[in-house]
Amino acid sequence: MALRTRLTDRFKLAHPILGAPMGFVGGGRLAAAVSRAGGLGLIGGGYGDAAWLDHEFGEAGNARVGCGFITWSLAKNPALLDRVLARAPAALMLSFGAVAPFAAAIKEAGVPLICQAQTMAHAREAVAAGADVIVAQGAEAGGHGASRAALTLVPEIADYLAEAAPDTLLVAAGGIADGRGLAAALMLGADGVLIGTRLVASSEALVRPEVRDAIVGADGDATLRTSVVDVVRSLEWPPPFSGRVLKTRFVMDWHGREQALAEPATLARENARYREAFAAGDVDNTGIFAGEAAGLIHDVKPAGEIVARLSAEAERLLGQAHAFVSA
Ligand SMILES: Cc1cc2nc3c(=O)[nH]c(=O)nc-3n(C[C@H](O)[C@H](O)[C@H](O)COP(=O)(O)O)c2cc1C
Repeated sequence: MALRTRLTDRFKLAHPILGAPMGFVGGGRLAAAVSRAGGLGLIGGGYGDAAWLDHEFGEAGNARVGCGFITWSLAKNPALLDRVLARAPAALMLSFGAVAPFAAAIKEAGVPLICQAQTMAHAREAVAAGADVIVAQGAEAGGHGASRAALTLVPEIADYLAEAAPDTLLVAAGGIADGRGLAAALMLGADGVLIGTRLVASSEALVRPEVRDAIVGADGDATLRTSVVDVVRSLEWPPPFSGRVLKTRFVMDWHGREQALAEPATLARENARYREAFAAGDVDNTGIFAGEAAGLIHDVKPAGEIVARLSAEAERLLGQAHAFVSA
């Protein structure tokens, strides 16, 4: 027995699970571990750094992995897309920005196009661009996102796709860290899930041990959406996006005081402190991207075990679903 969905069929996977393309955190080893376990791992192209990407594709070895970009940042350096497409990735994911300028090149290369959507407008834009897969990302997700809850966004996009683009697959993201989340996502109409925060607490994530420990130690109340981490790094994220992070001391000091943080002398001082703390694993004095799923994560495991466990748990739960139906 195994979970079988349109996603496992289309991408020839053993489990309907994608590993999120987490900028700087999701490197080649993590993506390869997810793919080797039977999911599909995506390297986090993030803001786009050619040397980093070349290195991480090398780290993935011969594993079949894809890659994801932050779309508004890719627009500043579009040549990076050709560089990655030349590696024939298993999929190319675009999040946070206009997808139309890049869709044709991805499709012409014969690479499946995955678009992450936070709203119905994003989903319609992705369909118009010819997306093969839409990732419906709820606000509980770690990292950048917007405000819609996955519990309504996933089925609403499922209904829309059934009418407008029945061949386009749907993947749910945000708050999924165990088999309950995967089983629920399939019930909401998704063909699979994309997981991020659960994989930050994996052996292969490119983070310091203090970061994994902070996620394991946090409950789901310990995160919030904010722009503080973008302001301190001088990253100009367009609306409606903010980042979900742990409520560290640094974040709580500046949340709601972003204008004061952006004042040049303050910014220079805080940026230096932030980077130093980040490099040293001083969690409290920096920003840690993580979602509400932190409250469901109680251990650090190899990514392959995480993927296999999620799938087995969901399979077991779905097998018991008849218990809710009276004779
Ligand atoms: C540490 C971290 C970094 C992320 N970086 C990116 C990124 O660079 N590009 C992207 O499309 N999504 C990024 N995301 C969001 C994921 O794609 C995904 O939507 C999210 O992790 C799903 O929610 P979850 O964290 O509850 O599993 C990131 C998430 C995390 C936790």
